[in-house]
Amino acid sequence: MPAAEQALAATLSPVRRRELVAGRSALRAALAELAPGLADSPLLADDRGAPILPEGWVGSVSHKGPRAAALIAPAGAARIGIDLERAAPPRQDIARWILTQREQMFLVDRGIDRGLASTLRFSIKEAIYKAVDPFVRRYVAFTEVELDVSDDGIAHVTSELPLAIETTWREVGGFWLATARAVRR
Ligand SMILES: CC(C)(COP(=O)(O)OP(=O)(O)OC[C@H]1O[C@@H](n2cnc3c(N)ncnc32)[C@H](O)[C@@H]1OP(=O)(O)O)[C@@H](O)C(=O)NCCC(=O)NCCS
Repeated sequence: MPAAEQALAATLSPVRRRELVAGRSALRAALAELAPGLADSPLLADDRGAPILPEGWVGSVSHKGPRAAALIAPAGAARIGIDLERAAPPRQDIARWILTQREQMFLVDRGIDRGLASTLRFSIKEAIYKAVDPFVRRYVAFTEVELDVSDDGIAHVTSELPLAIETTWREVGGFWLATARAVRR
């Protein structure tokens, strides 16, 4: 890691340090592929905790245990987010906390497994948060965003946020991998 990034890592607890290193390694791997000249740049964090990419790029990171995922894109009008979660039911029922009434009713009506559906929707909403926070710069509650998740790896998003939001999701090796892209409406 570049010295500035090592200094950032040194301020963190051992668990967070491991996560930071895993996430920055994933970001760097993406940069090495798409913008090799920038792969040695320090990847610090902004005042909201989001990763700062080299000029001309935006990006997002997620980690789960030893795994990490990163997403980068050329900078433009859009911001992006990525999230990685175990594709397994949560230890506690999180549906009431993260799903709107309509989202919960949809699962009941269709007989969809509430546990797995919850972790998938949690992951998509966290990816959305990472894409929208640079615009709104505030905590966005999980129930401020409503998802219509289709089997083809897309979730349609409804919200009062002044943003158009697109998402994708897939299962990779037992993990949900969700991405989001937000632009001003
Ligand atoms: C910030 C948050 C999204 C992190 O999610 P998580 O599952 O705990 O952890 P992940 O490993 O997936 O993501 C952590 C990464 O998120 C990124 N991140 C943190 N704050 C961020 C922000 N404000 N904007 C964008 N990215 C952010 C960082 O890159 C961080 O990793 P790093 O510190 O190693 O660089 C989550 O803790 C949170 O606060 N969510 C707010 C509510 C929400 O998600 N609402 C959904 C409705 S839109």
